Amino acid sequence: MKKILFTLAMAAALPLSAQQKPVYLDDSKPIEERVEDALGRMTLREKIDVIHAQSKFSSAGVRRLGIPELWTDDGPHGVRPEVLWDEWDQAGWTNDSCVAFPALTCLSATWNPDMALLYGRSIGEEARYREKDVLLGPGVNIYRTPLNGRNFEYFGEDPYLTSRMVVPYVQGVQSNGVAVCVKHYALNNHEVNRHNTNVIVDDRVLYEIYLPAFKAAVQEGKAWSIMSAYNLYEGKHCGQNPRLLDEILKGEWSFDGAVISDWGGIHDTGQAIAHGVDLEFGSWTDGLSNGAANAYDNYYLALPYLKLIQEGRVTTRELDDKVRRVLRLMFRTSMNTRKPFGSMCSPEHYAAARQIGEEGIVLLKNEGDVLPINLEAVKKIAVVGENAVKMMTVGGGSSSLKVQREISPLEGIRRRVSGRAEVVYARGYVGDASGEYNGVVTGQDLRDDRTPEELIAEAVEAARDADCVLFIGGLNKSAGQDCEDSDRAGLELPYGQDRVIEALAQANKNLIVVNISGNAVAMPWLDRVPAVVQDWYLGSEAGTSLAAVLVGDVNPSGRLPFTFPARLEDVPAHQLGEYTGTRTQDTVNVRYNEGIFVGYRWADKQKKTKPLFPFGYGLSYTTFEYGKPTVDNAVMTADGSVTVRVRVKNTGSREGQEVVQLYVSDVKASLPRPVKELKGFQKVRLAPGEEKEVVFTLRKDALSFFDADQHRWVAEPGKFEAIVAASAADIKGKVAFELE
Ligand code: GLC
Repeated sequence: MKKILFTLAMAAALPLSAQQKPVYLDDSKPIEERVEDALGRMTLREKIDVIHAQSKFSSAGVRRLGIPELWTDDGPHGVRPEVLWDEWDQAGWTNDSCVAFPALTCLSATWNPDMALLYGRSIGEEARYREKDVLLGPGVNIYRTPLNGRNFEYFGEDPYLTSRMVVPYVQGVQSNGVAVCVKHYALNNHEVNRHNTNVIVDDRVLYEIYLPAFKAAVQEGKAWSIMSAYNLYEGKHCGQNPRLLDEILKGEWSFDGAVISDWGGIHDTGQAIAHGVDLEFGSWTDGLSNGAANAYDNYYLALPYLKLIQEGRVTTRELDDKVRRVLRLMFRTSMNTRKPFGSMCSPEHYAAARQIGEEGIVLLKNEGDVLPINLEAVKKIAVVGENAVKMMTVGGGSSSLKVQREISPLEGIRRRVSGRAEVVYARGYVGDASGEYNGVVTGQDLRDDRTPEELIAEAVEAARDADCVLFIGGLNKSAGQDCEDSDRAGLELPYGQDRVIEALAQANKNLIVVNISGNAVAMPWLDRVPAVVQDWYLGSEAGTSLAAVLVGDVNPSGRLPFTFPARLEDVPAHQLGEYTGTRTQDTVNVRYNEGIFVGYRWADKQKKTKPLFPFGYGLSYTTFEYGKPTVDNAVMTADGSVTVRVRVKNTGSREGQEVVQLYVSDVKASLPRPVKELKGFQKVRLAPGEEKEVVFTLRKDALSFFDADQHRWVAEPGKFEAIVAASAADIKGKVAFELE
């Protein structure tokens, strides 16, 4: 016995190099073994240290064991510039300017999962190169109101479209050894009172509308972390919510990653210990809101937690589970020795930003073929509007970026038509002239103290003798527009833009309105404008992508990821409520009275009103014709499938992409169901005259609704219809089938 002890003692005394490498450092070992080995070596204090922040965007590693600290950074559209250790202020580094990719509404508008994979891989390379272990995105909250300040960071109104688009993004990012942090889980559908809104929905609404994208990201995307939202659900903050975190996420979905709180989303040590959050960030505990020294020690999961354990009032059971999840996140990222090295500001990333932008732009109206601009005939272009020049990669809150470059719409148009047409510019209106957001200085001085009348007169003058006029306006990233922590006040365009557009329509019939926004806007002038383009926040290559579509280098193929209502009161969140909700003490209760009838699910049921532009809508520079849809088998067995086929032909004179949409309708159900629900889509590229057969396979899950009483998905036998469409309002054909 003595001999064995002596041998062990000698072995332990040897330097690591001479010894067999400890399991947690041996990347040939399975992660679970490494997690257990590391856990077993950590002291109680080290365990407490790794489950909360140590700075604005990092949490501690275990120095003694050589486990690095964990670095997170925003955001969904690009990697945020460095801030000071414990402040939101810019750190002023000179090597952290990034590529800004298009906003996620644009990615969703491509309806092309290949673009989502390209996006995720590219932004993941930028995060990896910047040595970030966790990218705080993507956001997948459902678009319930066009006033929500953060819709531009999300994928629109439909859970199926959002699910199909978020999975490849997650896979792309994580292929770099960088974790996504899918946010904001859950029910964070507007920004007003975001810290104390208690959302009231029943289980069917929760499971059919607001959870699917998170579930897909976890179960199909294998997301390594999830960010819990600020708001409450069932009266409990999402960051310490037993239902969302323990029962659903970690229970039903078997999520094995880490739950990271939104910054300041934790409010109570006991609740945080017992329910679900694994990594606490950004807490303003006990008024330490200005990053007072050692604020991090006062976090709910810091010394207060340690104290409860040392007093024997809680065990380390929950602690060990949290630490296991944080360690697993580390072994997938910071401790991952096989990850690639990433890249930043590469030509490939600019190309990706350009391509995603080009594929996401939506052509809403094009009468008399004003578009594409024919550079044989058009020799003078008047560009009007602040959004033609205003930098948009800054602002909007935590997704604000410091870019290496941003091509504005005006610059992109000038570059594309140089030598072919003269371009004149007029401001048209003054919106948000500030040149600094979150400490990032744009260098632009947009101040202009002319009156609206003077600005309109100048714009009309420029428009009068132009061959075509481009009004480039919309929203921007300032507070009260498309911006975190605030919502818009109404559906209308701000800054008197409607007046400018009306005046331009009078002055020149070849008017094209380009709306840059992450939300639907009202268009009272629509009948008097021949062409309208829904442009998004396209990032570093904004002007290049837009110009390519406007002159026809690229045939637009974007489709709306959310409904454009004609009026705000046509939106159920505003017609039925609730939006700002009813206050009781310090909680604002917001009941989603429309239930599952969000977006087109609502619009389809209306008899008297119809959307300005429907979900899934978008025009092309060519035309497509659909054949009659057929099914291979008219009866679906319980565990079988039904194959739907439809032929699509390009009947125009130039190549184009069509998004063939498949909706399912439950002809007779035992409870209210939407008229139809999106259950498939395919984007097909067709040369002029080319025809392709598009094939969809439907299984029972596509027919099911969530039965809250039985707490499971149910597909009721009986008649269904497969509906092939080019948008939620443009049905190309239906074919019946039956679930036996
Ligand atoms: C913000 C946002 C969240 C962001 C985090 C860090 O409050 O809600 O999306 O990732 O804090 O900036």
